[in-house]
Amino acid sequence: MSYKLTNSVLVILLGVLVVVVFFVRRDFKARNAELLPGMVEYVAYNSQSANPNFADGKTLQMPVEGTVARGFVPLRYKATPEDAKRAGEEMRSPLAGDKSGNLDRGAAVFATFCQPCHGSGGGGDGVIAQRGFPPPPSLLADNARKMKDGQAFHIITFGQRNMPSLASQVLREDRWRVIDYVRSLQSKTMHASKQ
Ligand code: HEC
Repeated sequence: MSYKLTNSVLVILLGVLVVVVFFVRRDFKARNAELLPGMVEYVAYNSQSANPNFADGKTLQMPVEGTVARGFVPLRYKATPEDAKRAGEEMRSPLAGDKSGNLDRGAAVFATFCQPCHGSGGGGDGVIAQRGFPPPPSLLADNARKMKDGQAFHIITFGQRNMPSLASQVLREDRWRVIDYVRSLQSKTMHASKQ
């Protein structure tokens, strides 16, 4: 009995709705009303949006000429072996005194960006080398041990023969950290290489 009652009430309501919709004459080409639109349309400009406050009408502005972005001081070196040697003489790690956490970070960077070629222990036997890429020299060999940090930094930054530049993948500070990590690998195997 009550079902019948409910159903007839619902049918009447539906009829009322249809009539209301007909009289409201909603424009289906217009946008819906937005409830609390503050999260979608915020006050700040989007980087790519037009901006009436600047002469060129863009939000993203070029850096002022002659300025240097923090952390991106230009490196005055070319990708040549001579400049790699010069970097070895001139460049010093900015982290020198501060070892806290650097080795852990260096190890993570090594595992991600160097190990595929240089191998987990730096021996030059990474998976890529095992599958036909010309194997790099061991980082535990005398040449790498005697190499100055600045020269290694130059090699990571600019590449050297078969080693590509990793400048776009590895942050500058991380390059110094990974060099510290390679040094720690070298000192662990000091005995082995002297035998
Ligand atoms: C795509 C493979 C590859 C990757 C990735 C790579 N290297 Fe190399 N690396 C090489 C090769 C090949 C050489 C030898 C280049 C040459 O012939 O002079 C080399 C040389 C070097 C040398 C000089 C060694 C010497 O005795 O002359 C250092 C130092 C070095 N790599 C450090 C690194 C570090 C640190 C990373 C990670 C941030 C890295 N490499 C990533 C392939 C790679």
